[in-house]
Formats: sequence, C-alpha cells, structure tokens
Amino acid sequence: MNFEDIVNSRRAVNFFDKDKDVSEELLREMVELAAKSPSGFNLQPWNMIVLRDSESKGRLQKLAWDQPKVSEAPIALIILADIDGWKEENKTVEKVFLENVKAGIMSEEQREWFKNARDSIYGDSRDKQLAFACKNTGFFAMTLMLAAKSLGLDTHPMDGFDHEGVIKEFNIPDNYWIPLLLAVGYFDKDKQLYPPKWRKSYDEIVVEF
Ligand SMILES: Cc1cc2nc3c(=O)[nH]c(=O)nc-3n(C[C@H](O)[C@H](O)[C@H](O)COP(=O)(O)O)c2cc1C
Repeated sequence: MNFEDIVNSRRAVNFFDKDKDVSEELLREMVELAAKSPSGFNLQPWNMIVLRDSESKGRLQKLAWDQPKVSEAPIALIILADIDGWKEENKTVEKVFLENVKAGIMSEEQREWFKNARDSIYGDSRDKQLAFACKNTGFFAMTLMLAAKSLGLDTHPMDGFDHEGVIKEFNIPDNYWIPLLLAVGYFDKDKQLYPPKWRKSYDEIVVEF
C-alpha cells in the first residue's frame, strides 16, 4: 500500500474479528514504526499500556461507555501522555540529552541551555504541560493508526471513557493524561462499515484573522 492508500483506507473500525489475534511481533513492529513520530525536542512523552486478556479489557470496557470493541479487539491500548516529560529529572529527557551529545547534536556544555529552553516553553503552566504531552502523544497515536493500517491491521481511537476512572482502575501515576484509548485488531468482514465520513475541504480548513 502506498501512503495515499493507507490514509484513505484507515477507518475507525467498530467491529473486530474476535477470532483473529495480533501477534506480539506485529504489535512491536507497529509501535516501533510509530516511535518514529516527531516530538518537541525529541522528548517522546508517550507511553502505553497493552491489554490483551479479557478480564483487563472487560474492566476497561466498563469504564469506556461499555463500547464492545474494547473487548472484541484482541488488543486495547491505553495511550499515555507524560505531563512531566519535559522535566530535568525525567529519565527520557536525560536519555534524549545524552543521545544528542553522543550524536554530536549537542555538547555537554549545553545541558543548562537545554533545561532553560524546556522550562521557558513548558514550565510556567499546567495547560502548556498538558498541551505538550497531548499534542506529541497525538502524533504518536496517529502514526500508530497509520502504521497499523500499513501492516494490515485496523484500529479504533476512543475518547468516550471515564478518564479519572481509568487512571484509578489501572493504577496510572498522576503525571499521565490519557488522550485516547486505541483498539487494535482485524475488521470483522461479516460486518458493514459506515461509508467514508465527511471531511472539511481545503477552503474550510484555511482561515484568516
Ligand atoms: C481522539 C478520538 C476519539 C474518538 N472517540 C471515539 C469513541 O469513543 N467512540 C467512537 O465510536 N468513535 C470514536 N472516535 C472515532 C471517530 O468518530 C472517527 O474517527 C470519525 O468519525 C471519522 O471516521 P473515520 O475514522 O472512520 O474516518 C474517536 C476518534 C478520535 C480521533
């Protein structure tokens, strides 16, 4: 499939084939493709919880408007955006810096500059930190959906869920926001998809102020 085919054929799939599993290798491939997504300062403030067993998916379904696809899909992902993923003490931040130094992109002397740059953009409000975490994790999630399609898989993003309930039920630390849940599997070919949905045109997207 070329890029256009992938974009045009990706759909939010409501019905998953309950008998068709997704291998660990395929999931890994999909996630590692999505990990190529861009992020501010390359901070990659995304994580995810993988649910495969019916008991865990059932617990999630109850908190997700009881949407059956959560359990019917072989995999339900809880996508996590790390609100603290820009802070000096964050492990990924340290790794990004060290990798930059190793690659010759930054020098050891730029540690303070790197910290000040992050602090100046994200440091002064929770809104900015939440936006940082969710926008970057949104790119990751979008690439996950396209990567899945390119590998022959189908997905369904969901924000119809009780955010605080899921945080509590799955013991998720409070530095995370959940921008979406993502069901992953294979479309049940016995079911009917809605026709492709309406989209805004170029002229509706472009604005002037
Ligand atoms: C962040 C996000 C959250 C969504 N939440 C839900 C949801 O909870 N339940 C649902 O049925 N569809 C949900 N959708 C699916 C959208 O309705 C769907 O993507 C949109 O109508 C366009 O259809 P398409 O993806 O098939 O092109 C969500 C989509 C996104 C991107």
